[in-house]
Amino acid sequence: MRVIVEKDYDTMSKVAANIMKEEINKNLSIVLGLATGSTPVGMYKELIRLHKEEGLDFSNVTTFNLDEYVGIDEEHPNSYHYFMKDILFDHININLENTFIPNGKSKDLHGYCKQYDKLIKEKGGIDLQILGIGENGHIAFNEPDEELNVGTSIVNLTESTVEANSRFFDSIDEVPKTAITMGIGSIMKAKNIILLASGKNKSKVIKQLLKADKITTKLPASMLLLHPNVTVIVDEEAYNG
Ligand code: F6R
Repeated sequence: MRVIVEKDYDTMSKVAANIMKEEINKNLSIVLGLATGSTPVGMYKELIRLHKEEGLDFSNVTTFNLDEYVGIDEEHPNSYHYFMKDILFDHININLENTFIPNGKSKDLHGYCKQYDKLIKEKGGIDLQILGIGENGHIAFNEPDEELNVGTSIVNLTESTVEANSRFFDSIDEVPKTAITMGIGSIMKAKNIILLASGKNKSKVIKQLLKADKITTKLPASMLLLHPNVTVIVDEEAYNG
């Protein structure tokens, strides 16, 4: 696990965006795995700048998002579909037909999960996966538990995740309690992984992750210790607390 510590959120975001830029320029048909949440927003802003000012080309890029709430409409302002269009896709030259986000409204959710992993495989697998991390150590919506799902699955969100995500909703009651998420195995198949974390509230889990020498389903992010190409990019607050 390579660890990069940057002085603040902005620098962390720019460093991550630059790595993405280099990877896109090396392979214009790259398959990216994308995350939502607050952490990657600065990186997406920088990617938009790189597109507008330096011509970074997304026209052949394919993306797969990690997760989506179950039962929420794509047009809902808190859906991850809406988020991705609003924060990134509407501002770059990506072909929306090459952007994939789990469909939380599928009539056959379990069948859909299998299809999602199959589609990733058909597109050649994820070249570069971006991850955030939950304060409880979740990656995507793989929550700490006795067991973790290998493939894309339907999961119940923990109380702490529902509470953390309620900041985007009018009330906690509106936060969906189930989600569709890429599994640990789907994530681990990515060739390269970048995990981002910023702010004091992530320092405890980052400390746990960086000093871990055992994997445990109680800290889903610890599974990344098994992956040969993970870069953790954090700001000083997340690193030092
Ligand atoms: C989002 C996702 C989540 C977030 C995590 C951190 O697609 O998969 O695992 O990365 O909950 O969220 P933020 O960045 O809002 O602290």
